[in-house]
Amino acid sequence: MKTTRPFIPTPVITIDGPTASGKGTVATLVAAHLGFHLLDSGALYRLAALASIRYAIAQDDADALAKLIDDLHITFREGLAQLDGADVSAEIRAEEVGNRASVIAAHPSVRAALVARQRAFRKPPGLVADGRDMGTVIFPDAVLKVFLTASVEARATRRHKQLIQKGFSANMDDLLRDLRERDARDSNRAAAPLKPAADARLLDTSALSIDQAVDQVAQWYRALPAPKVH
Ligand code: DC
Repeated sequence: MKTTRPFIPTPVITIDGPTASGKGTVATLVAAHLGFHLLDSGALYRLAALASIRYAIAQDDADALAKLIDDLHITFREGLAQLDGADVSAEIRAEEVGNRASVIAAHPSVRAALVARQRAFRKPPGLVADGRDMGTVIFPDAVLKVFLTASVEARATRRHKQLIQKGFSANMDDLLRDLRERDARDSNRAAAPLKPAADARLLDTSALSIDQAVDQVAQWYRALPAPKVH
C-alpha cells in the first residue's frame, strides 16, 4: 500500500516592529534557540538601497528600482550580507542607507520585487522572519506573529549604542528626529504599512532585557497547539 507523508507546512514565526525595537536581536536569538533559519528582511531593503546609491538610481524612480532589484546578486552567508560577491554587512547598517531603504520601501513595485526573495527563506525546520510586514503580507499563515514595540527614547538609546559600537558617529537628537520621521514614513505609507497583524501578540520591550523578550517569544511558541496536518 502506498503511504503518503502528511504535509505539515514549515512553521514561520514573524517578528515585526519599528526601527530599533530590538526585533533583529530578538529574531536572531529565537532562531538560534529553536534551530530555525533567519530572515532579516530589512537587510534586503538596505541592500537594495545601497545598490541604488552605487548605481545612481534615483530614490523616486520606482520602475528602475524594481528592475535593479530583479537583477541584484545578493547572498547571505554565515550572517554576512553580500552584494555582487562583496561583503557589505557593515555598510548597509549606516543610517543613510537605512533612511534610503525606508524611502524606497514605500514603492509598491519595490516591495513586489522582494516578495519571492523573502519567501524563499522558508525552509525546514522553520523560519524566524523579522521586518515590518512579515505577519501581514509575506507570511500571513505564520504560526506565531509578534509585534515588538518600545518607546522612541528607548529605541534611540539602543540605536545610539549600536552605532557607536560599530564605529559610526551618532548624535541622540539626530537619531530621535530620524526615528520619528522613519516611523511616520513606515507607518503611513499606502503599501504594506507598519502595523500589527490582527492576530499578532504585542510585546513592549521598553523595560525588558533582550533575554526576557526572547524567553517570552519562545514561551509563546512552545505553548502553541500541535501543527495541523494537511
Ligand atoms: O529593519 P530595518 O531598519 O533594517 O529596515 C530598514 C527599512 O526597510 C525600514 O525603515 C523600512 C524598510 N522595511 C520594510 O519596509 N519592510 C520590511 N519588511 C523591512 C524593512
